[in-house]
Amino acid sequence: MKKRIIPHSRPTIGQAEIDAATKVIASSQIAQGKQVAAFENEFARRIGVKYAAAVSSGTTALHLALLSLGVTEGDEVVLPSYVCTALLNAVNYVRAVPVIADIDPDSQNIDPADVAERVTAFTKAIIVPHMFGRMADMTEMYKLGVPLIEDCAQAVGASLDGDMAGSLGRLGVYSFYATKVMTCGEGGMVVSNEKALIERVKDAREYDNQGDYAVRYNFKMTDFQAAMGRQQLDQLADFIYQRRKIAAKYHQAFEKLSTGLPPADAGHIFYRYNLNVGRNVGRWIAQMQAAGIVCAKPVFRPLHQYVEGHSCPQADKAYKQIVSIPIYPTLSDADTDTIINAVTQIQNGMQT
Ligand SMILES: Cc1ncc(COP(=O)(O)O)c(C=O)c1O
Repeated sequence: MKKRIIPHSRPTIGQAEIDAATKVIASSQIAQGKQVAAFENEFARRIGVKYAAAVSSGTTALHLALLSLGVTEGDEVVLPSYVCTALLNAVNYVRAVPVIADIDPDSQNIDPADVAERVTAFTKAIIVPHMFGRMADMTEMYKLGVPLIEDCAQAVGASLDGDMAGSLGRLGVYSFYATKVMTCGEGGMVVSNEKALIERVKDAREYDNQGDYAVRYNFKMTDFQAAMGRQQLDQLADFIYQRRKIAAKYHQAFEKLSTGLPPADAGHIFYRYNLNVGRNVGRWIAQMQAAGIVCAKPVFRPLHQYVEGHSCPQADKAYKQIVSIPIYPTLSDADTDTIINAVTQIQNGMQT
């Protein structure tokens, strides 16, 4: 019999999403239209911002956020190392200079002190990702006096002292990729309280039916994706509740083990549950795989390793020692227990 595998990520998709998307497809109005507009309005309301623009992915959201701030060739953009290459790509799309900062080892988010040393007169923006579901230190980031783009791809619904992720910077960006907290297959959103910034995003995402010629893109979301996204947004609170419940169970079980646990502050939505196992994670991941559980390095490779002249020792360390274990709303109690047992055995050296 084929061995059952517990996947690392899994979207939560029910009949409501299937019905909503099917209805739109059957209507033949499938391109950007009323559903996208409704999704934008509902999303902005949920985050507590004035304006939102839906786009085709988190990467395009970042790209258009940079363009809307007027970031261009030769400008410097600061971003942390311990993130995916989407951020580096977005900076390169606008031909700006990526300046890679290190992370804070406890939060695994961008380190404001390290950023402060890298900000120059040429810094036009800082991308502040709220990694793994937990918000970065926005108070310290504000003090730098540079426009902030909050990257909430992993933190939709996360908050800091009551403020939602995405509502604090000049712009906030989101991803609705299949593994994210809420999904419509692929998709993204840009939010802001500044009308002009969102108007620029909306202008650039659509090349057709424009009075003048400028370089524009086709970065639109379809109406059937938006219909699915609206259903997911309706369930966001429940998705987060389920994630927090599993995280609490993990916390209780792992507290006594010799492993670093994610911070458990109130606004964390636990997109990922990262363990710092204090040694090279390669073998650890293989041991979990042998137990039928897929774990992963939460970041494929730190960005400074791709860009010459950057040193980020904390990101290097995190890359070696941090592993992400499965956490998602459809993870059953039995599978959660299987994961807890396997982690406990490996950490206690019972599996070799
Ligand atoms: C922090 C962060 N920003 C941006 C992105 C890019 O999003 P997308 O895959 O929708 O382009 C990701 C994707 O994983 C991400 O984790």
